[in-house]
Amino acid sequence: MNRKQEFDQQGFLILENFLSREACEEMMQRASELVQQFDYRGHPSIFRTEEQSRVSDDYFLNSGDNISYFFEADAFDDEGNLDPVFQKHSRSKKLQELAEELDLNPLLLIQSMLIFKHARIGGHVDIHQDSSFLYTEPESCTGFWFALEDATLENGCMWARPGGHKRGLHTCFRRKENGQGTEMILLDEEVYHTDGMIPLEVKQGTCIVLHGLLPHYSNPNTSGKSRQAYAIHTIHRDAHYPEANWLRRNRNELTGFNKHAE
Ligand code: FE2
Repeated sequence: MNRKQEFDQQGFLILENFLSREACEEMMQRASELVQQFDYRGHPSIFRTEEQSRVSDDYFLNSGDNISYFFEADAFDDEGNLDPVFQKHSRSKKLQELAEELDLNPLLLIQSMLIFKHARIGGHVDIHQDSSFLYTEPESCTGFWFALEDATLENGCMWARPGGHKRGLHTCFRRKENGQGTEMILLDEEVYHTDGMIPLEVKQGTCIVLHGLLPHYSNPNTSGKSRQAYAIHTIHRDAHYPEANWLRRNRNELTGFNKHAE
């Protein structure tokens, strides 16, 4: 079975040693610098996927076109122009080739985030599908998740259900029509459960490609070791991205992994 078949069948792909140790260190160093420069006062935004609805939070909803900071998950501008280090690692030749191999092109980078998952205080992320938060018609969201540090059972590695992406979209997170905040729309009556979910323990430098419909979650980090990760989300260039998505981006500014050729 080749990598595309494996991805289509299980909804995720684990690629060890995708990033060098130096690349991981460089991104963690840069993230640390960006966080140190940031003034948290006045920005008490916490990203929680389990929230069924969110009161209007301008900072959250306006995070699309700049580098935004959240206590648990830092969203970086996926344009990459704002920061050369993340630009470099988000638009590598290796990623371009991977997208090609998995038949994901032409794609657009729509979001990128650094997940700190600090030692002892790193929160859990409830079961979700990334497509609920980056909804397109037809569904086209794909995630590229990079372990900047080893991800283990102890420090809250990701869990996923192999093949779970075949069931379709469970919920859709969107802006309310009246403009007052956001809501979670239930599309599938089945209650989310963790049956059949397996832990994806991976070493530093591993890339996990995630189908947008794959249910996944992670436990809190109760260990003394942080579990930093960097994640990029993409959508297909030809798919419709409704205005109701919480994340609004200027479509004309979005590009693929190969910024100049696509
Ligand atoms: Fe996710």
